[in-house]
Amino acid sequence: MHDLLDASPGRARGHALPLPHGGLTRRGRGHHSAPMTSAKSVTFSVSGHTVACRPDQTLLEAGEAGGVPLPSNCRDGTCGKCRARLLSGQVDMRHQGGILPRHIERGYILTCCSRPLTDVVIER
Ligand code: FES
Repeated sequence: MHDLLDASPGRARGHALPLPHGGLTRRGRGHHSAPMTSAKSVTFSVSGHTVACRPDQTLLEAGEAGGVPLPSNCRDGTCGKCRARLLSGQVDMRHQGGILPRHIERGYILTCCSRPLTDVVIER
């Protein structure tokens, strides 16, 4: 299942809307999806690191490249080891079943298969 997520501070429980490609988007009021065409800022709220994520990188890859210690295992969206809460921003997540719908509803993402569409803040 392919998901497009948006979680803004205090708005992590946006409305699920169908997308043309069959996935879902979650967005707060006033937010719109946009294709990622340039590097985005990724801030890890717990460690305090901020790194740049290129369009060809996942959040996990960008964090690791910036020296941020992040949990991972399968790296393809199946195991759930890299699950983290998206505190703000919007990502394109293309997982392989490693996250439950109820976790997505609570604002969680898998960093190994998510690419930022905006600057994002991750609870890690
Ligand atoms: S590392 Fe397995 S789902 Fe991300």
